[in-house]
Order: sequence, then structure tokens, then C-alpha cells
Amino acid sequence: MRKLSPEPWRVKVVERIRSIGPVEREEALHRAGYNVFGIASEDIYIDLLTDSGTSAMSDAQWAGLMIGDESYAGGRNYRRFEQTVRDIFGLPHVIPTHQGRVAENLLFSTVLKPGDVVPNNTHFDTTRANVEVNGGVALDFVIPEGKEPRNRHPFKGNMDLARLERCLEENRGRVPLVMLTLTNNSGGGQPVSLANVQATHDLCARHGVPLVIDACRFAENAWFIKQREPGQAGRSVAEIVREIFALSEGCTMSAKKDGLTNIGGFLALREEAWVERLKNMLILIEGFPTYGGLAGRDLEAIAIGLEEVLDEDYLSFRIGQVTAFGEDLARAGVPVVEPIGGHAVYIDARAFAPHLAPEEYPAEALTIALYREGGIRAVEIGGVMFGKPDPERPGREILPDLDLVRLAVPRRVYTNSHLQYVAEVVKRLHREPEKLRGVRIVRQAPVLRHFTAEFELV
Ligand code: F0G
Repeated sequence: MRKLSPEPWRVKVVERIRSIGPVEREEALHRAGYNVFGIASEDIYIDLLTDSGTSAMSDAQWAGLMIGDESYAGGRNYRRFEQTVRDIFGLPHVIPTHQGRVAENLLFSTVLKPGDVVPNNTHFDTTRANVEVNGGVALDFVIPEGKEPRNRHPFKGNMDLARLERCLEENRGRVPLVMLTLTNNSGGGQPVSLANVQATHDLCARHGVPLVIDACRFAENAWFIKQREPGQAGRSVAEIVREIFALSEGCTMSAKKDGLTNIGGFLALREEAWVERLKNMLILIEGFPTYGGLAGRDLEAIAIGLEEVLDEDYLSFRIGQVTAFGEDLARAGVPVVEPIGGHAVYIDARAFAPHLAPEEYPAEALTIALYREGGIRAVEIGGVMFGKPDPERPGREILPDLDLVRLAVPRRVYTNSHLQYVAEVVKRLHREPEKLRGVRIVRQAPVLRHFTAEFELV
């Protein structure tokens, strides 16, 4: 059994959380139309909805806020931020944005032509949407092992190089860039190996296509490389990061993940070619290039967060905490995606509640049960999020291959005992899975319905 290591920090400020009673939870669910997105955060005990923007900042970051320079142009925090991004990623042109999807919007609205194709290991939803809204076609080429919940391949986020090569050959002149998402969030928080980044780069170079990295969880990915890839154990995470990004022409980043902040992001590029157009667009939609939709103090906090996230005591604890949480569930027979990912544990809800038909949205049923039983908020990544009307069978839906519940772990926020509590609740539900009731959708929006849909229990 893996040894659970203690937190590499002590607590300086606390935020009260409380578990409301079962009757109040039932009322909260009822008011929210059984959709956990509609529940007030005060009524949540442990919130595992996302690891994005939910990190706890360090004392150094809070101190950094006090030296925010809120000048409209040329602020000193921007210079520190720019220098930090250059030092860590080795990419000279740094464009700040207020979150990751704006970096994606800027990039794709600048480089895509209608009909262009963008390959990725797996596009995150906002990345896919930004490709599609600009007339592009977003293609996912993760290796087949990446789609098998219990396949223990160490790098399930890897790009399938044969499929990428075929795509590049078949679409000559129509692929403005290739992306790699580190770690592969939509595929379970699974890492990409350094060898695969290198091979993807080589393939792109042969076709004259730039490789751009979605860097949201770059430090977590580099930690997995250090732990799992032959020959990497003796290197520092910072060195591995430098090598990954030396193989790229740029990156999009949401600082709300491995930037250890509550808001922020950036686009960083090696070549100047796109920079002027990007900055003109930035001024139009975000702000002047030395603040990009952020306050000067936010830029300071991101610069400090990007340095702190490379601390190997932090990474060892972080990945160790999520792994221990997931393995505890796996040992109790709970069907989870394995190996455990970097930022979240994913439960395979069809295997958890086999008595429910996929049309009864088992992952939504489990998400509701987690709140009802323990005040825990998770997120459904399955039939509700991705189901589409079936044109051949009126009233029926085409459902995705997997129906998952994601328990995302915010960074530096919950202690090991909070997660032990969550594991106990999951195990309790797992002992009597037949008690889970399926759901029916009673109201839904035409797009992104999972945020606002309302349900009824069947
Ligand atoms: N890329 C990846 C891989 C992401 O996981 C996210 C956000 C984004 C881009 C967009 O960044 O939110 O700052 O605009 N993921 C969050 C999540 C929302 O819950 O997984 P953003």
C-alpha cells in the first residue's frame, strides 16, 4: 500500500465549511432541479467540481498582491510575469489573458481558415469549441489505450502517431497547427510521455506544421514523466518542462490550474509571425498587452504560482494525494479510471451502477447521490454533457462511450482527511449501488445543457 505523505505546508488562514443536514441537502437539490451546478457553494461540504481557479494561494502569492502595479501600460508585474514565463517555458513572446479559453480564442481566430483541421490528443471542450466556431475541424487522436478505463498504460495521454501522420498527409496545407494537451483532461488527467512529445514534434517538423501545447497541467505532466519514463528520474521537473516546451512553437495556458491562481492565463509563442495580429486582437477583446484582462496584482500572483508549482515537494504531495485517494477507492472495488490521473479521480458510472441503463444517465445519478449522501459536489462527464439527439431514432440519444463522474481535487485546498471522508461516502454508496436512482431530463438548453439542465429521479 502506498504511504500517504503529509501536506508540505502548514495552515495560516482557514475558511469555514460545514456539512448541512440531510433534510436541507434534499431541499437544496430540489431547488436546483437536481443539478449540482445550481447549488449554492455554502451548501456544499467538499467541492470537487473542478480543479480550475479553486487553488489556495500561498503566503508569498498573497504578499505579491500587495505589490500590484495597476498602471494601464508598462506595469512592473507584467515584466516579472513575462520573464518568469520565458524562464520556465523558453518561449519569448508572452500574451496575458484572463483565462485559458481566451488564449484559445485569440490563437484560433488568428490562425484558422474555414475548413482547416486541428489534430490534438484530445481537445478540451473550450478548445474544441474555439476551433469549431472559427470554421475548423477538431480531431482527437489519443492512443487507443487512452480510451480503456482499466488499461494501465503509463502515458494514456499519448498522441497516436500513425493517425496523426495520416491526417497530416491527407490534409496538406489545411493543418495550421497540431496541439498536445498536457495532461489529457478529457481522457482522465492522463500524461503524455516526453518521447511522445518528441515524436509528435518530429512528425510536425517533417510536415512544416507548428506544435502548440495546451499547458494547463504542465507541471503535473512533467512530474509523471520524472516518475514513469525511463531515464528521467534523475532530472529536475524544471528541466523536463524546458525540454517539453523546447519541442513546441508555443502554448496556451490557463493559470487557474498549474498557475496556482484563481484567475489568469496566457498564450506564449516562439516566433514573431502571429504576434502582432494576436496583440491587436488582444487589445480588442481583453486589454492592453501588459495586462490582458487581468489586474497587475494577478500577474504577480501567477508569476509566483508558476515558480511554486515546480517545487517537487509540492508535486510529490499533490500527485500522491490524488493517487492515494483513487487507489483507496479502487481497492474497495469502486470502478475508477486507472492509472489514477493527475488532478482528478474518475468513476466509471456504468460499471458502478450496472442496474441503470445508459439512458438513465448513471453518472448524473451518482453525482446527485454524492451530494445527497455526503454534501460532496462532483461533475458528470457523460451522457448529459455529451449526449446528442439521434437523427435515426426520434426521442433517443447518441451517448458517449464512457459515462464518468469526475472528482477533481483543488490544489492545496483539501487535506488527506477530507479526501478520506469523500472516499468513505463513495464506498458507502458502492455497497448498495441498487439504491441509485436514474434520472430523466425535464428541462435543457440547446447547447452546453449540463450546466443548467433540470432532472427528475426515476
Ligand atoms: N484546456 C484544458 C485542458 C482545460 O482543462 C481547461 C479548463 C481549459 C483549456 C480552459 O481554461 O477554464 O481557464 O478558460 N478546464 C476546467 C475544468 C474548466 O474544469 O476542467 P479556462
